[in-house]
Amino acid sequence: MNKKITLIGAGQIGGTLAHLIATKKIGDVVLFDVAEGIAKGKALDIAQSSPIENFDINITGTSKYSDTKDSDVIIITAGVPRKPGMTRDDLLEINLKIIKQVANGIKDTSPNAFVICITNPLDVIVMALQKYSGLPKNKVVGMAGILDSSRFIYFLSQELKISVSKIKSLVLGGHGDTMVAMVNHTFINGTPIKELIKAGKISEKRIIEIINRTKTGGAEIVKYLEKGSAFYAPASSGIEMAESYLKDQKKELPCAAYINGEYDVKDIYAGVPVIIGKNGVEKIIELKLNKDEKENFSKSINAVKELFNAAKKIDPSL
Ligand code: APR
Repeated sequence: MNKKITLIGAGQIGGTLAHLIATKKIGDVVLFDVAEGIAKGKALDIAQSSPIENFDINITGTSKYSDTKDSDVIIITAGVPRKPGMTRDDLLEINLKIIKQVANGIKDTSPNAFVICITNPLDVIVMALQKYSGLPKNKVVGMAGILDSSRFIYFLSQELKISVSKIKSLVLGGHGDTMVAMVNHTFINGTPIKELIKAGKISEKRIIEIINRTKTGGAEIVKYLEKGSAFYAPASSGIEMAESYLKDQKKELPCAAYINGEYDVKDIYAGVPVIIGKNGVEKIIELKLNKDEKENFSKSINAVKELFNAAKKIDPSL
């Protein structure tokens, strides 16, 4: 039997997720949206590409939570995206309300699902989702680190004129302006990037510019699009997490996970490298951070904590 993947939110990211799941033949798809017509229309459109793309999965649209029952994976993109000039944090109030509805919709219908949240502001929304739903913390994660890391790696590849496949790096912390690109954990063809700086192949100044472009990578796209925010790369990132869980790949991926003691941080969701396998988040990998990285990571955690306190003011039940 095919795995059942429910996508809550059939907007730009939800539709792209559905298309990727179908063409990669990962499982059956239930596209859920409060705007039922969008969910049904996109499901039908993608289904009609099946003879051409050669997939035999079942894809349906709905606005009833009963249709999402017993999902293996749920990916949530329900919410409002940014408009030009907005930060992700500006979405807090409106998306918090939406995520509460979603949590109530999924907690009893799919108690065993692996739940990936994409809705922004990510770290706080995923933390709220876990609290509202009461689902196990190792089964509720947020997608951000893969996207931020992917943006960083892409920009480095353009700068160094080298294939993205030859670059290893990651971005941790909160999914906002304080995210931390791990320069000391960045390798080009297996060589630490610091060595390339020493050899004069890239300057420290240029790396800082690339880090800053990564931090504002989402805003750069929002500005171009004028309506809506990025959706292709966010969808690809969500799929990588879902596949690692469904196929028990045990990939090490930077995700917004519940941290409780690791990195000297307690009781908060934020971006850290984790192993994702059939049990959900199976392990948090603790990288050795140098003084600068520690400082920046801690700043980023504080920003997430501050925003969570703001969320608690909006909804004291959190
Ligand atoms: N339940 C289900 N779906 C909802 C709800 C709800 N309570 N409220 C809104 N939606 C749906 C909308 O009808 C819309 O179709 O969520 C969808 C969101 O789609 P888009 O507006 O296209 O947004 P998208 O680009 O997909 O981004 C969604 O992910 O990256 C984040 O910042 C982004 O928070 C935003 C989210």
